[in-house]
Amino acid sequence: MRSFQNLLVTGGAGFIGSNFIRYVLRQTDFAGRIVNLDALTYAGNPLSLEDVARDFPGRYVFEHADIRDKAALARIFDAYGIDAVCHFAAESHVDRSIVSPDDFIQTNIVGTFNLVQAARERMDRIVLFHHVSTDEVFGSLGDTGYFSETTAYAPHSPYSASKAASDHIVRAYHDTYGLPTTLSNCSNNYGPYQFPEKLVPLMTLNALEGRPLPVYGEGLNVRDWLYVEDHCSAIWTVMTRAAVGETYCVGGRCEQRNIDIVRRICALVDRLAPPLPSGAPRESLITHVADRLGHDHRYAIDCSRLERDLGWRQSVDADSGFEKTVRWYLTNPAWVDSVRTGAYRQWIERNYANR
Ligand code: NAD
Ligand code: DAU
Repeated sequence: MRSFQNLLVTGGAGFIGSNFIRYVLRQTDFAGRIVNLDALTYAGNPLSLEDVARDFPGRYVFEHADIRDKAALARIFDAYGIDAVCHFAAESHVDRSIVSPDDFIQTNIVGTFNLVQAARERMDRIVLFHHVSTDEVFGSLGDTGYFSETTAYAPHSPYSASKAASDHIVRAYHDTYGLPTTLSNCSNNYGPYQFPEKLVPLMTLNALEGRPLPVYGEGLNVRDWLYVEDHCSAIWTVMTRAAVGETYCVGGRCEQRNIDIVRRICALVDRLAPPLPSGAPRESLITHVADRLGHDHRYAIDCSRLERDLGWRQSVDADSGFEKTVRWYLTNPAWVDSVRTGAYRQWIERNYANR
């Protein structure tokens, strides 16, 4: 088992990063400190970690900083004696990358370069640099076949191209300079604290409020869904057990067409929330809209190497995972309202304006 004491998590105020920090502090034997470095873009929300900040004073520290800022990275690496990094920080939404790719290039590519360079400059004490990536770097599948660790890269969107570039930079720092890196490429996550621009929380909240459910095209594109806590356990498994230089694919063995995900959410909201004033089933809110440009047809991951070599197992199946997720959005109106009304932006202004 690899061990470290001062773990830098970038993007820890986002969806997966906040779940990961909670998972590591509450569910693993990690005894050290986590420094969460996050720029608090629209997608970063410190309210997602209020319980962690309360329950782990001293072992959880927040640093409001940007991975594009080299001086800030140097200060943080040295102030906390960082000996391991788990790098989540990214612009993550495909639709935004199509409309406005600039931030994706700067954060995902240049920001990742800044981080591996800061780690390389402190190689004497860096035990591990783990890079969190996506299955979208592999492009799109037809109706059969799976992505695996040996699949060639073929990204299509500005988002996936920027993630592919960042993967190559991380591997280059291992191959060229011996930086101890690991990498994971995961499929679509769902669960609590996801910003409601993504399919699952968007459809859940729109269904709750009786608003249209915008399905791109016919809704026949396929994604491979994984409950976020299972992604967190996979990352932790790779970080503590994988040999340096290795890459693992992570997936849920749960291929679903978008239209079926939306119908599943509608049925759950009908069952768990009060009926619509009209009495109509939520499925009647489904509205087919223009397709995403360059929309990848199908993603599906073969995660057998992670299971076989490192013993990782998924623990939440789709039935319980989607029910837990929908229940979470229905029972956490304070978090939902803060995100939807932008109230958390005011909170950020109050708390971080002068830092
Ligand atoms: P997210 O958009 O919810 O969170 C991203 C976080 O990064 C936010 O807290 C944001 O404030 C922060 N951030 C953005 N730019 C920054 C910068 N320049 N400096 C510092 N912080 C910055 O994203 P997510 O869905 O949690 O994804 C996290 C990582 O996991 C990303 O690298 C993404 O590519 C990868 N990933 C996501 C999924 C998924 O299904 N969501 C699947 C596989 C891989
Ligand atoms: O596969 C991993 C990737 O999953 C991550 O790397 C990305 O960061 C993450 O955002 C996610 O990308 P997707 O594009 O697959 O997720 P999104 O939730 O945006 O869309 C899921 C599918 O649903 C996709 O086929 C597009 C479709 N969709 C999405 C939205 C927001 C709709 O039909 N309607 C919508 O309103």
